[in-house]
Amino acid sequence: MNPVITLTKPKKSQKTMNKNNLSLHLLLLLLTISLPSTQSDDDLIDQICKKTPFYDLCTSTLKSNADPQNTDTKGLAGVMAGILLSNATDTLSYIRGQISETSDPQMERVLAYCAELYIPVVKYNLPQAIDALSKGRFEFASDGISDAAKQADACEKKLSGPLKLSPLSERNRLLHSLSDVAVAIVKLLLKGLIK
Ligand SMILES: *[C@@H]1O[C@H](CO)[C@@H](O)[C@H](O)[C@H]1NC(C)=O
Repeated sequence: MNPVITLTKPKKSQKTMNKNNLSLHLLLLLLTISLPSTQSDDDLIDQICKKTPFYDLCTSTLKSNADPQNTDTKGLAGVMAGILLSNATDTLSYIRGQISETSDPQMERVLAYCAELYIPVVKYNLPQAIDALSKGRFEFASDGISDAAKQADACEKKLSGPLKLSPLSERNRLLHSLSDVAVAIVKLLLKGLIK
């Protein structure tokens, strides 16, 4: 009995397997035909991110914010700086929200201090840096972008008590890392290392 079963059963599944294999091959073929440019973009992102201090953050940020108009190093630096700006903007409004919620004067003072630090970053430093980047003024862009990390650090230093392990602290650290990554990419442009 057993041999018969094992002889007939595989025959059936073999057929389905072949069908599946065929559609899988077709799918892979279609993918390789239709996605060549994405492939090379990913390669450039990989190559660039290896030269930054936070490879994972760099690749995940650039890949999830892919902009078909900005696929060269300068464009990717711009994408990264843009994400940094939107993160800083988001953090500033988070701080303002916290200020309106707290009734602790000490906490309010610290939050107001941090808001004062983030305001120029959001209003001037980063927008000007992004503009400079698009004009090829990489040194100026690098300075403006690194200001974001400096202000995030200055805010972080003031945090104590419950604020020390708060979402704000988390945001300060992410902003610092995003700023470091963006600066590292701009430095590649400055050195002309990766076109
Ligand atoms: C901040 O940056 C992180 C990391 O790339 C990203 O996932 C998140 O969406 C950004 N937040 C905003 C508001 O841009």
